[in-house]
Order: sequence, then structure tokens, then C-alpha cells
Amino acid sequence: MVFTEEQEALVKESWEILKQNISKNSVHFFTTILEIAPAAKGLFSFLRDSDEVPDNNPKLKAHAVKVFKMTCESAIQLKEKGEVTVGETTLKHLGSVHIKSGVLDPHFEVVKEALLRTIEKAVGEKWSDEMKSAWAEAYDQLAAAIKAEMKQEA
Ligand code: HEM
Repeated sequence: MVFTEEQEALVKESWEILKQNISKNSVHFFTTILEIAPAAKGLFSFLRDSDEVPDNNPKLKAHAVKVFKMTCESAIQLKEKGEVTVGETTLKHLGSVHIKSGVLDPHFEVVKEALLRTIEKAVGEKWSDEMKSAWAEAYDQLAAAIKAEMKQEA
């Protein structure tokens, strides 16, 4: 599938909106992850021992921002080069961190759904099927690269 300039623009435009309230959007993202898959709580060091999703946790924000931002970067790479080109070292590191944290392939679908719902909420009226599929495509390609690296590490 070809990733178009329009799709890249939709992802960039919504990332700009998402960025304006990282704290709120990060909490919404993790709250949604736990709504879909309550058991995922145990995977994250910053969720494991707390009763609710913490409001101002730097590690929580860091993971949310990484997922948002790396998906946005993947959209740019897909448009420019037709493939996700995360650096080898970064990818190896991500493969190893996720394997060591006990992350499994199906968790990526949970995070994808939470990502899409978080963007939908953040962008409001700008949300569209085109925007959704642009994010979904970029995320799927990035997730595939991380999952492939996890298989190497396992
Ligand atoms: C850690 C990115 C998907 C669970 C991390 C880190 C990054 C990252 C950058 C920090 C690595 C470090 O410590 O240096 C991403 C990206 C994803 C993704 C870009 C998808 C495109 C997932 C999924 C899960 C997950 C699907 C499971 C639901 C974790 C956990 C950690 C982690 C448990 C360790 C954090 C902690 O407990 O403090 N991820 N991740 N990630 N990720 Fe992900």
C-alpha cells in the first residue's frame, strides 16, 4: 500500500493537536489501554503498584509520547521511502525492552486501538476515516518492525 502525501499531512496535523496537551492525552491513552486490557497494568512499572492511572507521571508520559511520535515519524518515512526506517540500534533496543517487559504480539492491537481512540478524542471534529486509516497504517508498519525485532530477541 502506498502512503500518500495526504495521509502524511493528516497524521502530522493531528500530532500537532495531540501535542498541545500531552498530559491529558497520555492519561487518556493509558486509561483506554487498561479499559480494553485490564491485565496490561502489570506490564508497566508505573501502573503496577497504583490503583489508578497516575496523573503526572514522567514515565507514563514518555511511553505515550514515544508511541505518538514514533508513529508520526513512521508516517513520514512511509511517505518518503515507502517503508519504516527506524534505526537498527533503536529497533534492537525496543525489541529487547518489550520482550523483557513481557509484552506479547496481541498487546500491539490493544495499544493501536487506544492510540486511535485517543487521537479521535483529541482532534474532535477533524476526525475522519482517512485520518484513522493513516494512523492505523503507520502504526501497523512500526509495530511490525518492533515485533520482528522481538522475535529475534526471544
Ligand atoms: C518501554 C516504545 C508498544 C509496553 C518502551 C520504551 C519505548 C517504547 C521507547 C522505553 C524504552 C527504554 O526504556 O529505553 C513503544 C512503541 C510502541 C510500543 C513505539 C508501539 C509502536 C508497546 C506495547 C506495549 C508496551 C504494545 C504493551 C502493552 C512497554 C513496557 C515498557 C515499554 C511495559 C517498559 C516501561 C516501564 O515499565 O517503565 N516502549 N512501545 N509498549 N513499553 Fe513500549
